[in-house]
Amino acid sequence: MTTAAPTTAGPDLADLVARLDLETKVGLLTGVTAWRLRAVEEIGLRSLVMSDGPAGVRGTGEDPSETSVSLPSPTALAATWDLDLARRVGALFAAEARRHGVDVVLAPQVNIQRTPVAGRHFECYSEDPLLTSSMGGAVVRGMQDGGVAACLKHFVANDSETDRTTYLATVDERTLREVYLAPFEHAVREVGVWSVMAAYNQVDDGVLAAPATEHTRLLRDVLKDEWGFDGVVVSDWMAARRTVEAANGGLDVVMPGPGGPWEQRLVAAVRAGEVPEREIDDKVARVLRLARRTGALDLPPRPVPVAHPDLPRELAAQATVVLRDAGAQLPLDPSALRTVLLVGPNAVDAFVQGGGSAHVTPDHVVTPGDGLRAALPDADVTVLRGGAARRHAPELDLARCADPGTGAPGIRVTRLGRGGVELGTSVVTSWDGWDRDPGPGVEDVRVEAVVRLPEPGDHLLEVGTVGRHRVLADGVLVTADDRPVGAEVVLDSSINSPDGCPITVVGPAEVRLTATAQVVSSGFGSAARAALRHRRPDEDVDAEIAAAVEAAATVDSGAVVVVVGTNDEVESEGWDRTSLALPGRQDELVERILDVAPDAVVVVNAGAPVLLPWLDRARTVLWTWFPGQDCGQALADVLLGVTEPAGRLPWTLPARDADVPVPDAVPVHGVVAYDEGVHVGYRGWLRAGTRPAAPFGHGLGWTTWEHRDVAVGRSDGGLDVTVRVANTGERSGSEVVQVYLEPPAGPHGDRPVRWLGGFARIGLAPGTERDVVVRVPERALQVWDVAAHAWRTPPGDYRVLTGRSVADVRLVTTVHLDHEEVGRG
Ligand code: BGC
Repeated sequence: MTTAAPTTAGPDLADLVARLDLETKVGLLTGVTAWRLRAVEEIGLRSLVMSDGPAGVRGTGEDPSETSVSLPSPTALAATWDLDLARRVGALFAAEARRHGVDVVLAPQVNIQRTPVAGRHFECYSEDPLLTSSMGGAVVRGMQDGGVAACLKHFVANDSETDRTTYLATVDERTLREVYLAPFEHAVREVGVWSVMAAYNQVDDGVLAAPATEHTRLLRDVLKDEWGFDGVVVSDWMAARRTVEAANGGLDVVMPGPGGPWEQRLVAAVRAGEVPEREIDDKVARVLRLARRTGALDLPPRPVPVAHPDLPRELAAQATVVLRDAGAQLPLDPSALRTVLLVGPNAVDAFVQGGGSAHVTPDHVVTPGDGLRAALPDADVTVLRGGAARRHAPELDLARCADPGTGAPGIRVTRLGRGGVELGTSVVTSWDGWDRDPGPGVEDVRVEAVVRLPEPGDHLLEVGTVGRHRVLADGVLVTADDRPVGAEVVLDSSINSPDGCPITVVGPAEVRLTATAQVVSSGFGSAARAALRHRRPDEDVDAEIAAAVEAAATVDSGAVVVVVGTNDEVESEGWDRTSLALPGRQDELVERILDVAPDAVVVVNAGAPVLLPWLDRARTVLWTWFPGQDCGQALADVLLGVTEPAGRLPWTLPARDADVPVPDAVPVHGVVAYDEGVHVGYRGWLRAGTRPAAPFGHGLGWTTWEHRDVAVGRSDGGLDVTVRVANTGERSGSEVVQVYLEPPAGPHGDRPVRWLGGFARIGLAPGTERDVVVRVPERALQVWDVAAHAWRTPPGDYRVLTGRSVADVRLVTTVHLDHEEVGRG
């Protein structure tokens, strides 16, 4: 079923296109700003507005006070395996988009989690193509039913951040079809997505090696011609480079603008006969169709869909995965909790959303401490960090600073033009390390302060910046660089987490700090970066761990909650991780807390897999993802029994770095070779026969389940697998019935050992049971036959397994498929 779209209302699109001259048409195909397309009043077209996705709708930034609902990370949503919830999240996106005046949300991201170190792992849904397709499709449906376009990204094989704008992904055609293209095909053919984003990387499908923005075979032949995609292909931001190749290759819109390879150069290419004008007309018709679908063309404004304010909290709680709960400790009894000790870097500074373009500014964040205090008003809730886990020092407290000129509180910020000419200066009392959009002609920004460091001992000061800069302490040059930088520092996210040169000062002291940093301009806008950091002499990880352990030893062990995890120095767009270890000394913290408080509940606040060397020691371990703005409330709901933590891992949790089938995503001589073929994620683990720390699909919830009797029937080329499911525990809960397939014995080509064929989530009261029908779509049985350019179902006996994870199989049966069936190409 495709999403209903008002495509037929109003004048014929071809007639509208025919009313426009070449310049106007081409003018519509590049952004007029970073987030907007041009309006063409003569045909009733207002400016189409785009915004990131995929963990909230950020808006255009035109209103600096704009705030957005911060949702749990997409991985969290995938962990629910709940299609209805995914559709409701899509509807929330639509409501948020309309509230921000946004027509196209640059989400969802349906790239496959090929390696756990991938920087954008948290933005994707799963390592499995079927789960990714299902969740992504449901989000698209919810969004587009609300009249807002989804922009499915990044098409395709955009699975590494290292050298992300240049590498060539070599992926054989069968793997592309069965794994990496699958979620895109589903969203185009089954849901009717309205736009798709062409990725930064290049793709070699075995026939053509070309940038994704110019890939004729993928964009034109597959996406548009074969699948019938009638929407807009938008370039990733600054991904389009060449004029003619991109225009003829199937790209429709270049973002951001103004600038880029089209505009006047495309007009000239059309005039020179290098790009047929009918190509331009087709692109413009697609833009107008998108505008009509989203209400930007000759349609009255639609009512803003209703937002559901409780959804972020509900989703964060439901998505929580119970990795372990020995002795069924959960939920904790609120009446027994007089004292609660919350320990850990992420208890103090929860990582509620990942870094990069998915980031939004929420109007509130409920910390774990606030959430527990609100839920337990009579309890004494203490929060201890147990040692910082960040590389960088904390933000400098501006209360320590004074303007060197007047002595007034704060720091002096001076904008400088060419030759260091002062264009304006002011004293500010709040500074987040950025001077955004400093204005025309501003080339550098100078930040000056006298910093008071009254505490005796070694203080560390640091200015984190990128590109051309000079930093002086008391007039002495500390660090300088004359080389300017550009968009690359935005694309690799180093501007978000910049390094600096540490300055050690022995207190008590006063230091005059002067830092000049260049303005970085790119298609995303312009900004100067000067992150002011300071570490006090008494910040001592040893002492903090010791204090946390001592505190844990004095309270009831079941009332200790340790929150560990990653942070924005670790998980972000722009770079890949080099290790799966938790940052800092968090493993040591957990081990030492467990020594004195063996019942402590350990909470892992991370988006992508991290190693948990103490997993088997801890009685209760929860995985809470990046939980979004209502983090603390969701944690309290889970711990205190308000909401079942019903998540199931949408990926495999490794026990050791060395076991990971695709351990890195680093291009070799510019190439990322997808040599593992279709054996991605858990399929790779099964093929290698290595046991992970927790398998794909794992999650305990808070009740117990039995699967009884399985029957398999055929329908629509696929299977209907009926399983009797019983809640044998004492609480209502949700079960995700997972159906896996194994191929016929004998020569069956290079098929996975086992793969996900379908799933269904149900809720049952304790002591009740029900038949659950899990639909296995025809595609789940098929392979892509490269020679025949068609899908086919190899005949034979397939094992059909139902279970609670890929490793926890409860029932097995066999189905015989006796004739070769060729599917549509
Ligand atoms: C990212 C996209 C994002 C775009 C706009 C790019 O760098 O890859 O996912 O939508 O920026 O922020």
